[in-house]
Amino acid sequence: MKPIALITGAAGLIGGYLVRTAARWAPQWDVRGLSRAGADLTDSPQVAELWRRYYPSLVIHCAALSRTGACEQDPARARRINVDATRHLADLAHGIPFVFLSTDQVFDGSKGNYVETDGVNPLNVYGQTKAEAEQVVLQNPAHSVIRIALTAGTSPTRDRSFVEDMLRSVEKGSMLTLFTDEFRCPIPAGPLARALWEFVAQQRPGLYHLGGRERLSRWEIGDLLARWYPEFAPSIQPGSVADYQGPPRPPDLSMCSDKIQALLPFRLPGFRQWLSVGSHQGIDPWDEPPSDRQ
Ligand SMILES: NC(=O)c1ccc[n+]([C@@H]2O[C@H](COP(=O)([O-])OP(=O)(O)OC[C@H]3O[C@@H](n4cnc5c(N)ncnc54)[C@H](OP(=O)(O)O)[C@@H]3O)[C@@H](O)[C@H]2O)c1
Repeated sequence: MKPIALITGAAGLIGGYLVRTAARWAPQWDVRGLSRAGADLTDSPQVAELWRRYYPSLVIHCAALSRTGACEQDPARARRINVDATRHLADLAHGIPFVFLSTDQVFDGSKGNYVETDGVNPLNVYGQTKAEAEQVVLQNPAHSVIRIALTAGTSPTRDRSFVEDMLRSVEKGSMLTLFTDEFRCPIPAGPLARALWEFVAQQRPGLYHLGGRERLSRWEIGDLLARWYPEFAPSIQPGSVADYQGPPRPPDLSMCSDKIQALLPFRLPGFRQWLSVGSHQGIDPWDEPPSDRQ
């Protein structure tokens, strides 16, 4: 019998990819994807029952309130799932590997090219709850925190990734202003999921950054995407964050992923390079083996 790996947030973007790619990258695990329909992770008795049912040997915790706007609107709800539920699961998983997915948004974006030893200073509720949960998780030296960069992919509900958000806006006829002075390290969900599975196999717990190899502005990302999605081209325009009216935005959330890269048997892709091969006409353009992309 194979050991059970429990993936929370399996109906979400990254959890969905972890479940879908497990047969390819993690055949040694009996992977069980858990969605909200299976258990509300903020309901402690449900989670305890879930634990008794599965007795997992590994947890990759992807469930979260991951939309920054939703976290701002309801900070208490964000805290319940992002912090309290994470604490409960990490407690239950005290004797096994537990991998918590955090975010580049724990940083304020004033520096860029962040490494794992840089101090956090989140500007929004989402980042604050994630930074708090990181501290909880890292109390156990057998547990891991992986800060994930902006992830491109096709979610089960078709409404989770930033690419899907952009496509929906364009379909509605909206004009998107993409900042030339706001930077990220975007990564396709397929190689991200592979990296997570390879990381688990290495048994080297701790704090890691995981993003694409290239630092790109929002405008550069949109401009590159327009090669795959020609409908983007007339609907995107460059702009400056200096002209933006609204809550503070972190200008440069680029991260250095060298620490996790040293554990991986493949090279994390850059977004430009990924988009330079193939097209979005495939079965899932974000989920091809990295070897086909290099
Ligand atoms: N995608 C990115 O670009 C990105 C970047 C940095 C970090 N991350 C982090 O990576 C992780 C996975 O992200 P993602 O993009 O896959 O997020 P996602 O698509 O929003 O998926 C999160 C999943 O968690 C579920 N969930 C929320 N509250 C729950 C609850 N109380 N009980 C059970 N399930 C619950 C959601 O279900 P409902 O849909 O029913 O709410 C959803 O299916 C998150 O921790 C996120 O913060 C993602």
